[in-house]
Formats: sequence, C-alpha cells, structure tokens
Amino acid sequence: MAPKWQDLADRLAAEIRRGDFAPGQHLPHIRDLVAAGEGSKATVHTAYKALEAQGLVTSSRGHGTIVRPHGPVRPVRLVSKRVVLREFTRDDVDDVLAIIGDDKVTAWLSFDSRNRDQAIAMIEGALERAQQEPRTEYYLAVTKQGDNRVIGFARISFAGVKAGKLGYAIAAPEWGRGYATDAARALTTFAFTELGLHRISAAIGPENAASIAMVEKLGFTREGVLRDHVFTNGSWRDSILYSVLEHEWQA
Ligand SMILES: CC(C)(COP(=O)(O)OP(=O)(O)OC[C@H]1O[C@@H](n2cnc3c(N)ncnc32)[C@H](O)[C@@H]1OP(=O)(O)O)[C@@H](O)C(=O)NCCC(=O)NCCS
Repeated sequence: MAPKWQDLADRLAAEIRRGDFAPGQHLPHIRDLVAAGEGSKATVHTAYKALEAQGLVTSSRGHGTIVRPHGPVRPVRLVSKRVVLREFTRDDVDDVLAIIGDDKVTAWLSFDSRNRDQAIAMIEGALERAQQEPRTEYYLAVTKQGDNRVIGFARISFAGVKAGKLGYAIAAPEWGRGYATDAARALTTFAFTELGLHRISAAIGPENAASIAMVEKLGFTREGVLRDHVFTNGSWRDSILYSVLEHEWQA
C-alpha cells in the first residue's frame, strides 16, 4: 500500500494537471487538510514537497503552496478547415519527437534533429514563453480536426516593429494533404487580425520546394536572399526571405 502522503500527492497532482487549480492559486493551507482528515501535518507537508519535486508547485511559503503556472495565461485555439492549432501540453512529447526527431523534417529546418529530452525542453520553453505578458510568441501544436494528436507545429514570434516571423513543420507521413497551408493561413490571419501585426515573414531554404510553393500560394512576396542565414546539418545555408503585409493578406 502506498504511504498516505503518496496517495494525497497523487490526487493533488491529478487535480493540478486537470486544471482544478488556477495558475498562481494557493493550495489549501496544510492545517486545513489536517482538519479535513487528510493526515497529519507531516503527511500533508511531505505530499506538498512531492508536488514541488514534480515541478507542479512552488515552494511552501506563508499560508500555502502556490500552484506553478502550468499553461498559457490565455490559451489560443484556432480552428480552420482541416486543422486545429492549440497550445502544447506536456503530453505531446512523443508526437513532437516524431516531428523534430525526424531527419526528413529537420533537413529543412534551422536546427538538427532533436532527442526526447530536447523535445521536452522545446515544449517546456513554448509553455513558459506562452505565459509571458505581453506574449511575443505563439508556438502552437497542429492537430487534425477531431484528433488531439500533434501532427505539426506553427509558430509566430514577434521580431521588429509589428512584425512576426512565421515557422511551421508537419510530420512527414502527413505531408501533401494541405495541413501546413491551412495551419499557416490560420496563424497568419490570427496575427494580422488579433495580434495587430503589420508584417509576417518566412525564411525558407532555397531548395525547400514545398515550403516555397506554400507561401507563394498564400500570397507572400519574395524579398531576397539571406546569405549563410542558418547553420544546420553541418553547414551554412542561405534562406529566401518571403513576407506578406497586413493590407495584402487575403485569408
Ligand atoms: C513544408 C511543409 C510544412 C509542407 O507541409 P504540407 O502539409 O505537406 O503542405 P501542404 O500539403 O499544405 O502543401 C503545400 C504546397 O506545397 C506543394 N508541395 C508539396 N511538396 C512539394 C514538393 N516536393 N515540391 C513542390 N511542391 C510541393 C503542394 O503541392 C502544395 O501546393 P498545392 O496546394 O498548390 O498543391 C512540410 O513539407 C514540412 O514539414 N517540411 C519540413 C519542415 C519545413 O520545411 N518547414 C518549413 C521551413 S521554412
């Protein structure tokens, strides 16, 4: 039988993950849980320490333990014809790894293939930056309609004056079905209409025919070449810079 503190910690962890506590909210004071029959002071204290070790709460201070913010302050969900763009969750690691750990995909990106720890770090980083106020990055998971599994990502990060950089990738088995076009269109529309951006750019490897076809189809204009723009897969690579301006955008 698991010790009493462990049962309590497991139950509270499930409640925190489910979102029963708002980010920043305090957990109940230890003495209230003792009074409610959850166990001795030591039991509750040990359970809280276990939650802290899992990174679900910050340290016990004052009258209670504070729930660590565990997600974006205002989660974004964009629904388009074929895909849904949503915030990442920590459960997305395997799906993310299938994308950013795949050389077929990363051959076209600005970074080399990543391992599981790096996939976890990517999600943690995206969630952390999603909590910033003001938010300057929208790094979203792409899923199919009616299926919560992640098949790609799309990202806008602010850079410059009312400007954003667009990035995206789709898992290789799902290529050619219009998912990236849909995702990029939805995110660009969101950036112009909801975020008030004026300019969105995308830097694409000169040989990335699919990505170039996609932005041209969406109405982006070719601006020029960024020389030795990224160092990836062991060498420097140029990028072709594309952009679209607010008044040019036709969703
Ligand atoms: C680029 C990428 C995101 C496209 O994803 P996708 O879901 O297959 O894209 P779509 O199905 O929406 O297709 C986009 C367009 O590219 C075209 N296309 C696809 N593969 C192509 C290829 N090999 N050569 C030329 N055009 C191609 C499609 O025909 C489509 O145009 P169409 O609708 O006029 O036919 C995907 O290939 C990918 O993840 N690549 C690796 C990562 C990457 O390159 N990210 C972008 C970095 S700038």
